[in-house]
Amino acid sequence: MSAKKKKKKPEAKVKKASSTKATAKKSAAKKTRAKKAASPKKAAPEQPDTAAVQAPPAEDDVLLQDWVPVSQAIDWRLSRMAWQSSADVLFAEKRVPNRTHDSGALSLRNARILFAWCQEQHEAGSLPETVNLVELGMGTGLHLRLLLDHFQRLSKESETDYYDRLQVFATDVSPRLTNMVQEQGLFVAHAEHVRVGFMNTMSPGMFVDSDSEERVDLRGQMHCCCANYVLDLFPIDVFRRRRVTTDGVDTVAWETALMRTWLRNKELFPSYTDLTLEQILELSKSEEPAAWAMLAPLYSLMHLEVRLYAVPLDEHPDMAELEHSADRQEAALGADHELLEDGTVVYHSGGALYAVREIAAALAPNGYAITRDVGLTTPELAAVARIHQHFGPTVAAGVNMLQIDALFEDDRSGLGVSCHKPLNDGVNNQAVRLFSVAELPKTVGVFRNEFDANNSSSFVNYPASSTTTTSLYSNIPT
Ligand SMILES: C[S@@+](CC[C@H](N)C(=O)[O-])C[C@H]1O[C@@H](n2cnc3c(N)ncnc32)[C@H](O)[C@@H]1O
Repeated sequence: MSAKKKKKKPEAKVKKASSTKATAKKSAAKKTRAKKAASPKKAAPEQPDTAAVQAPPAEDDVLLQDWVPVSQAIDWRLSRMAWQSSADVLFAEKRVPNRTHDSGALSLRNARILFAWCQEQHEAGSLPETVNLVELGMGTGLHLRLLLDHFQRLSKESETDYYDRLQVFATDVSPRLTNMVQEQGLFVAHAEHVRVGFMNTMSPGMFVDSDSEERVDLRGQMHCCCANYVLDLFPIDVFRRRRVTTDGVDTVAWETALMRTWLRNKELFPSYTDLTLEQILELSKSEEPAAWAMLAPLYSLMHLEVRLYAVPLDEHPDMAELEHSADRQEAALGADHELLEDGTVVYHSGGALYAVREIAAALAPNGYAITRDVGLTTPELAAVARIHQHFGPTVAAGVNMLQIDALFEDDRSGLGVSCHKPLNDGVNNQAVRLFSVAELPKTVGVFRNEFDANNSSSFVNYPASSTTTTSLYSNIPT
């Protein structure tokens, strides 16, 4: 896209919103919009629908990426690359949050749940000789390390051999993180049990050992799988379904949030990169991660613009899911709800849905998985159009938990997997789910209590973490 296009400013009035929210609002142009969006089969209109979202570009901004669905925006690509190439630095420099997850409280709860699972399996006579525990996206590895400390203690206190049976896969998509935990000796105290290596949450179960490069296929053999704050790293899209009556005929029109990315403050480019403007624009068209890597230094100059466009969605691979989500939203909120006045927003956690399905499919028949994420847990929250948030050079988007729950209801997933919630959920937008193939009443009972948002008794900080700590691992007993 040539830099010229920057001059083509939208005629439609744009609602300026916060950098993380795309809120559909009532406006005087409502009727006009309804007409414009009436034909879902038309290509994206020359002028986009006005029901949206971010500030328009300034006069001499440079267009880096033209309109694409939110999930394909360049900052999702750069975020993926940042995790893969420099996750260790992100944590060390505290550019992404980790302290609350790594305080030990989460580890203790997960240790208790795993212990309950072992007891339940033992009582049923089905406790495996080797219990495979997988952590996906382990980050600093502290959650897993502390979980193992707790679990070892619980086994010792109960004089069981549960800890001895553990085979642990400490995994991440970032080789620099797996190297870091090894160099720091994070798992030395559990060395006989832990293997560190690569696993992608998008293909869970496929493990590559960092030391030996041995590949281990754990699909169908994962007894316990944890993924904390990983699903919310996967792309989302935003849609809106509107019912329109034209000349007495009712039609359904879908809109999609499209995003374009501008580079702001052209005069500052030389302070961020040696690339010329032409080189920058050329690189932005590349499909190669190495090319995007060269754009990463410009990250803080990027400016996003988001709008809802009427586009044909008949061929969209997730169309059935979108219809289902919209129907559920309308049923949950009631037809006259003010949040439905301008149509039904579907905040679509496409990436998370895919990942969670893959995780569920890779579980052992008696296994379970626990995910914890920032999530949207009520129809009201999910009814508002919004996009992702930035954390340093990474992005994350709350997971639409209503979609996750719906995927496993009545076995819509076809996997025979159930999805369980804690007794109280969603406080501070924290959402936890347990997935299991078999009925695991004891394990699920402990899970529901441990993650009950109203139960603070299990929020024990161990070991005490210090805000002045410079090393990620300085509180860990060796
Ligand atoms: C927000 S951090 C969370 C880390 C840790 N689980 C916690 O709760 O603090 C996300 C982690 O997931 C990793 N990650 C990103 N994409 C991934 C993927 N596709 N598969 C596995 N891990 C991924 C990142 O490298 C990072 O370590």
